[in-house]
Amino acid sequence: MGSGYLAERSWAAVLAIAQGRYPETRDAMARYGLDSEGSLVAVAADSPDAVLQWQPLRGWTACERAGPVAAAMLDLYLPVCAATEQSPVVVGHLGQSLDGFIALKSGDSDYVTGPANILHLHRMRALCDAVVVGAETVSADDPELTARHAGGRNPTRIVIDPTRRLAPSHGVFTDNAASTVVVCDEAYADRDGAAAANVVGVPSDESGLDLGALLDALRARSLYSVFVEGGGKTVSAFLERGLLDRLQIAIAPIVIGRGRPGLTLAPRERIDDCLRLAPQYYAMGGDVLCDCDLRSVHDADGVSSVRYID
Ligand SMILES: NC(=O)c1ccc[n+]([C@@H]2O[C@H](COP(=O)([O-])OP(=O)(O)OC[C@H]3O[C@@H](n4cnc5c(N)ncnc54)[C@H](OP(=O)(O)O)[C@@H]3O)[C@@H](O)[C@H]2O)c1
Repeated sequence: MGSGYLAERSWAAVLAIAQGRYPETRDAMARYGLDSEGSLVAVAADSPDAVLQWQPLRGWTACERAGPVAAAMLDLYLPVCAATEQSPVVVGHLGQSLDGFIALKSGDSDYVTGPANILHLHRMRALCDAVVVGAETVSADDPELTARHAGGRNPTRIVIDPTRRLAPSHGVFTDNAASTVVVCDEAYADRDGAAAANVVGVPSDESGLDLGALLDALRARSLYSVFVEGGGKTVSAFLERGLLDRLQIAIAPIVIGRGRPGLTLAPRERIDDCLRLAPQYYAMGGDVLCDCDLRSVHDADGVSSVRYID
């Protein structure tokens, strides 16, 4: 059995959990395989087809015989699947060079990271209710922001455009692949005399738009899992305000020299004031993804080994 097949099967199982395609009765340990539609179905405890198991208190875990790829997939993606109204999840992601840049000076970023990380982006979009980007990313990339490589549903696309400077001709506003919401300063919300349903105005202060108010507005629309996909200024703004639950940085073995920066935060006075994280590392082709849980206290001295999801 090839590792690609195992990864596809494990991803199908994750997607089935995210979309609630599994039997409801789970009052004891149960094992699940996949049917031809990609839904989870109960199988015998010793079935060779078992991919996942569910146990009271522990929840979903990978079956031992499903192997390390399935276990790594669950650890990486289940925290996103678990988002609810009571417990929403916000994940920031950047794909950067070894020297910390996410694009060339010109804005070209096709592609800093390789195909495995691009597939990961599509998987994150498929699992999340909303994907958020800054105006500069739409201006530079004209991205589709769909989950087309992952086989899931497309998220609602959220574009942060404080002064509504973006031209209406960009793909996210015209392609009908998913709905798109523009978040702007409240002074620009009814620029044309009437606030459109797909425009949300939020207050600003000296540091920019109130991103907490932005997240409240998304939750009011039942968007509970939010993927902040870039660029650097946008992910940095969410991180600086303490609004990210997870931070994912994919590091590609490329040196850009001088380009558009990834994270840029206010300067810290002392090393001890800096954010020191304890990531889980996932190999994605030639890149490494550092997946950081920002809500749990970790032992920063413990170094996790690199796990493979492909
Ligand atoms: N490698 C990757 O992972 C990745 C991912 C995405 C994009 N990119 C690349 O990154 C570049 C764009 O990144 P970037 O950092 O320059 O810009 P960006 O984050 O895409 O967009 C920044 C702009 O969004 C608006 N914005 C975001 N947060 C705001 C806040 N809290 N308050 C007010 N306005 C806010 C502002 O618009 P105004 O300018 O109108 O004030 C701001 O200048 C492009 O070259 C793109 O290709 C790379």
